[in-house]
Amino acid sequence: MEKIEKTVLVTGGAGFIGNHVVRRLVNKYPNYRVVNLDVLSYAGNLENVKDVERESNYDFVRADITDLEEIRGVFTTYAPDVVIHLAAESHVDRSIEDPLIFVKTNLLGTATMLQVAKESWKDNYEGKLFYHVSTDEVYGSLGETGFFVEETPYDPRSPYSASKAGSDHLVRAWGHTFGLPIVLSNCSNNYGPYQFPEKLLPLFINNIKLNKSLPVYGKGVNVRDWLYVEDHARAIDDIMHKGKQGETYNIGGHNEYRNIDLIRLLCKLMDKKLGRPEGASEGLITYVTDRAGHDMRYAIDATKLKEDLGWMPSLQFEEGLAKTIDWYLDNEEWMTGVTSGAYQTYYEKMYG
Ligand code: NAD
Ligand code: DAU
Repeated sequence: MEKIEKTVLVTGGAGFIGNHVVRRLVNKYPNYRVVNLDVLSYAGNLENVKDVERESNYDFVRADITDLEEIRGVFTTYAPDVVIHLAAESHVDRSIEDPLIFVKTNLLGTATMLQVAKESWKDNYEGKLFYHVSTDEVYGSLGETGFFVEETPYDPRSPYSASKAGSDHLVRAWGHTFGLPIVLSNCSNNYGPYQFPEKLLPLFINNIKLNKSLPVYGKGVNVRDWLYVEDHARAIDDIMHKGKQGETYNIGGHNEYRNIDLIRLLCKLMDKKLGRPEGASEGLITYVTDRAGHDMRYAIDATKLKEDLGWMPSLQFEEGLAKTIDWYLDNEEWMTGVTSGAYQTYYEKMYG
């Protein structure tokens, strides 16, 4: 590459959202050096960033955000100006099975990133930014009405959301106490290509394809607000470049669905794509024991992001869902790769 204008360190860039952020930055900003830092846990996969791995402004480093010395080494080697911190344990069901890894990665890992950024930037924060990517789950659970706004008090209720809430507090503490330049965003449920098939949509797309049962938790009446992942990556780009330091931005799709309605729509679209008789896939729906502590409804009010930075979701949901289904059906090899080995043990344990 010619002249490096900025070095952006993306943590968790081999995961679901991270790969879309990395791809966008690498392709849109040829003068940025984009460093993808990832430990390659079960959720991290270099296949997700294969299309950018040969770009001259892209680097990958395998490192663990909870390892202070390793992270110090990364900062010494690459001297990042901006950190976009996505690396985390991200699946609620796993946080119920094994909470301690969530506390370690999401709390200690975030504190380690903050501390090394502070040390490395040596209190000279000109042109520096620590951007923390978080979730709407920190706000808790809504009833039938209302929306989460940036001022909604934190009320996390699962080990995952509590560890993410704690990480948000740590970021604000480093901002307040040490003057670290920070910005945060809290986003609703993402969907799209390269999502690990432990999450609802890729899991159900794969099961429908394989004619396996669709395990709907409880009565399927919980509500989520779905956003296409590339729209989230675009929001992150906007906030990184135009967001106000110290601020929080909520990101959402204005696209609420009850799980069961979403699953029925998915079944209908997949019957068409797979050439199955109408209603065939709906027959796979099986109601199973509810998730412990299952939050009823999430819904984001993203007015601030729209009014301050001009961001809006770009895709209609049915269009995004159809694109997503096509991607998983066209990328069978990717799905086979991530569902072999340890995934089978996980699936057995969760769904029997
Ligand atoms: P993901 O599980 O797909 O990816 C997480 C990535 O972090 C993986 O590549 C993994 O290898 C890496 N990682 C895990 N532990 C690490 C460690 N100790 N050191 C270095 N890397 C490590 O998650 P995702 O869905 O892409 O979510 C990314 C971020 O966005 C998370 O912080 C999550 O809380 C947040 N978020 C996710 C959603 C969503 O719907 N998926 C919505 C809002 C916010
Ligand atoms: O809201 C943002 C959050 O969205 C992110 O912070 C998390 O990282 C991300 O995993 C997601 O959390 P959810 O718990 O909402 O996503 P999940 O795909 O696991 O589940 C979506 C809904 O579907 C939820 O109500 C539980 C239900 N579900 C999920 C699975 C995996 C089922 O009914 N059956 C299932 O097998």
